[in-house]
Amino acid sequence: MTFFSAFVRPILIAATAGASFYLAFLGLLTIPALQDHAIYLHGITLTWFKDVNVPEQWGFLRNQVTPFQLKTPDGETLHAWHVLPLETYRENQNALRDEPTGLCRNITSRIGFQLLKDDPTAQLVIYLHGAAGTLGSGWRPQSYRALSASAQNVHILAIDYRGFGSSTGWPSESGLLTDALTLADFALKTAGIPPERVVLFAQSLGTAVSISLAHHLALQSPPTLFAGMVLVAPFANVELLTQTYSIAGTVPLLAPVARWPKALAWFNTFILCKWPSKDKLAELIRHTDSLRPSRQTTKYDITIIHAEDDYDIPWVHSDVVFWHAVNATQDPEANLAFEDLELLKDKQKTDLGAGGWEVEWKSHGGIVREQIVKHGLHDRIMSYPVVSLAVARAFHRKDST
Ligand SMILES: *[C@@H]1O[C@H](CO)[C@@H](O)[C@H](O)[C@H]1NC(C)=O
Ligand SMILES: *[C@@H]1O[C@H](CO)[C@@H](O)[C@H](O)[C@H]1NC(C)=O
Repeated sequence: MTFFSAFVRPILIAATAGASFYLAFLGLLTIPALQDHAIYLHGITLTWFKDVNVPEQWGFLRNQVTPFQLKTPDGETLHAWHVLPLETYRENQNALRDEPTGLCRNITSRIGFQLLKDDPTAQLVIYLHGAAGTLGSGWRPQSYRALSASAQNVHILAIDYRGFGSSTGWPSESGLLTDALTLADFALKTAGIPPERVVLFAQSLGTAVSISLAHHLALQSPPTLFAGMVLVAPFANVELLTQTYSIAGTVPLLAPVARWPKALAWFNTFILCKWPSKDKLAELIRHTDSLRPSRQTTKYDITIIHAEDDYDIPWVHSDVVFWHAVNATQDPEANLAFEDLELLKDKQKTDLGAGGWEVEWKSHGGIVREQIVKHGLHDRIMSYPVVSLAVARAFHRKDST
């Protein structure tokens, strides 16, 4: 037996097999349906063996959460939750407890809905979750609790997008925008909440949906401008995401391809969804800045939050999103370079030590903030006070103008 056949050949065979598997896997990713599974992860329910119509399983009080359904204009049925503020619940506990539980067929008949609709001090968070799972997965319930237990009167409306949980259909870029528009329509028209009392909250994939929603509504005539938008762990766009994304924070899916920019660019031509968050946010800001002065002195209030230890989506994405947002507030000729903004940030940012740092950028039309915390991973951060504070601040700004 030669050295070659004893050692080198098995290694070569294993390496070739590994490479072929990987190439086959990449090949599979170019199939649209499998690609959707890889991006939206909607097949991974995470709340297996749990009924999303029984919110008590996630520790909520009887009828603190009302599960209901929304119909989209293109015929899908979305599963939704209405989470009541804790203080509102306390004041109405007996009446709420007496109502039936489970999936509610007529949300407008419910006390909780009336408490949202009829209370001029009620504030509303439109909640757009990330990829995978359902309304009840992971850190999402903790995040609703953190928001609804705050001193303010904050209601939450959350949906499972099409194809997720018990919602019907299959996810797509335009489909998820339709879903978010359906939820916004319900909030603004059916519940009659003015946009000044609405804050968009989103995490991960949800940030792309949220930017898409805010962009769509701001460009309407007349524009709809929300009190604020809080984006947790956003990504710049899918193209940049494929360079850096790690499944569950551990498997850097495309890192081998990303070493060859041309190969990655070619691979990206097969990825159908784009989610161009950085560009849509820039357009949203540029457009909103150009609107003539209105009652609202601050027309947008955007907070970008990311943890340094986010292994799924690295926080450099927030730097890129913030850069595009700030660039959009500048003179069209200015064309701010990334490095120049980084230098400027170094001078202007507030250092919070173990709490990370933050920087605020004011333009004549609004405010954009970047807040980088040291701890919080990709999901856990949603339940952290830095997020609740950002939401409270967006609501508070409305009071003070
Ligand atoms: C839902 O409830 C509201 C308020 O009680 C009522 O006016 C409406 O007719 C109900 N809708 C349906 C479809 O039952
Ligand atoms: C910055 O904004 C200008 C116009 O406002 C635009 O031409 C340029 O492409 C933007 N830069 C980036 C990196 O997007």
